[in-house]
Amino acid sequence: MQPDTIPYKRIIFVCCNQRDEGKECCNNKGGSEIRDKLKRAVAEYGIKQKIRVCKSGCMGQCGTGVNIMIFPDNIWLKNLTTNDIPKIINDYIDPLK
Ligand code: FES
Repeated sequence: MQPDTIPYKRIIFVCCNQRDEGKECCNNKGGSEIRDKLKRAVAEYGIKQKIRVCKSGCMGQCGTGVNIMIFPDNIWLKNLTTNDIPKIINDYIDPLK
């Protein structure tokens, strides 16, 4: 094991978990689409070395999905829809341009 500092200024975990049919889950509410659009924004801004958008498994709060965790800000965003993508980009990605 080799401890090191985190190589990113911000990491966004987006729950993209797909549960069995009939069960509430983030992916059925747009998790993967949100993740893809956030990743695309990071790539378009050319700030991949500063911010990482990661796919997450279930965060145990499926009823309030789509769920996102943002570090080191310690922010949890819930009940997200694809309509919230511009605000997430504005609040958490744009500042690192
Ligand atoms: S499926 Fe996203 S929190 Fe469970």
